[in-house]
Amino acid sequence: MTERVRAQYEAYPYPPRDARDEAKRLIEGSPSHLLEINHYVFGGGRDFRQPFRVLIAGGGTGDGTIMLAQHLADRGCPAELVYLDVSASARAIVEARAQQRNLTNIRFMTASLLDLPTLALGLFDYVDCCGVLHHLPDPAAGLAILAAALKDDGGMGLMVYGALGRTGVYHLQAILSRLAADEADTARLDLARRLLKQLPPTNWFARNPFLRDHLNVGDAGLYDLLLHSQDRAYTVPELAALVASAGLAIIGLIEPWRYDPASYLNDGALLKRCSSLDRLERAAMAELLAGNLKVHICYAVKAARAATAVAQPQDPAMIPVLRDGSGGESAKDLRPGGTLTARAEGFEARFALPRRAGPILARIDGRRSLADIHGDLAADDGGRFDRRAFMEEFSQLFRVFNAVNKMFLSRDNN
Ligand SMILES: C[S@@+](CC[C@H](N)C(=O)[O-])C[C@H]1O[C@@H](n2cnc3c(N)ncnc32)[C@H](O)[C@@H]1O
Repeated sequence: MTERVRAQYEAYPYPPRDARDEAKRLIEGSPSHLLEINHYVFGGGRDFRQPFRVLIAGGGTGDGTIMLAQHLADRGCPAELVYLDVSASARAIVEARAQQRNLTNIRFMTASLLDLPTLALGLFDYVDCCGVLHHLPDPAAGLAILAAALKDDGGMGLMVYGALGRTGVYHLQAILSRLAADEADTARLDLARRLLKQLPPTNWFARNPFLRDHLNVGDAGLYDLLLHSQDRAYTVPELAALVASAGLAIIGLIEPWRYDPASYLNDGALLKRCSSLDRLERAAMAELLAGNLKVHICYAVKAARAATAVAQPQDPAMIPVLRDGSGGESAKDLRPGGTLTARAEGFEARFALPRRAGPILARIDGRRSLADIHGDLAADDGGRFDRRAFMEEFSQLFRVFNAVNKMFLSRDNN
């Protein structure tokens, strides 16, 4: 790794966090939400009563670490999370956050993920590497090292920058690296701010309204966005090639609806041609269509088990689980023939829900299986709502709610 990258994150731990805020809220997101991990990596069937080893590679100020450590503690899982980062100041922040929450399942290490082969940490069930690979001089070498630390039946949650959504960033990085490379950090930040004030309206950064870190995340955000010394972005095919180079396969892209051409098109002739593409080609097509994917978040497992890793909604023993708790709230305002609206960075899509979306959602509590829910609905309906019709309606509901990252499947209600 380059010394410059380490020095940046030492001076500007990212993202800025205040441990006292842990008393008010838990920051949750992707990758590495426990419901997502179980659904995508373990077919919904992971038993979290058993030991679970996690590596957080480049954990920064700890958003992913704290979320997952808290989720595992809430489940009473005998888990060990190993937090690794080259920045000691970032580590100090996540340690303080963990202390605020009385989390005792994290081991903190200040080290490079590139040194993993010499650290003798053993193998992991799950590896989180969020926003780090694109800052390595050789991301493929870094990912190969992480893959070597992964158990055969484990999986990874990754985030890398998206090339199209970051249109404009690299133009300004090029200008600033030419004009401000040898200055001290404060002078570089000052020059970046001056440049932002002077951008002509035709500049691609000025024309990309979805890049906000320089406005919302203070000096650390401005530095990270425009002054980074080691930063690249990926298209979907480039990410797929990176993941494949480590013997892994992408099994899920988050949020799924954003990677589906059908979210953007309704012309039958175009959609028919898109449907003949494979899953990753469709995702690449969606990226080209939308143009607004600033990051790519994915789950990956060893290629040999890619076909079986993700939980499927066809099994009546599966328990549907909603990210935001029980389904009563989502069901409240749903009418037969209703839709669900998804929004992201300037785009809005509407998805049709099945006729009985409301009654099904109202019965989802994270404990009842599909068979239980069907039994309930069939009883209300004098037995007329048969299993096949229920599974069809549930599959449609699941497709939509999973696509917007709200519903997952689990085999266990512990
Ligand atoms: C953009 S931050 C992301 C932090 C965190 N994963 C998150 O998503 O909030 C990137 C982090 O990767 C760390 N990092 C960069 N290169 C690293 C390396 N070779 N080994 C370990 N950490 C590294 C940096 O110090 C920084 O904290």
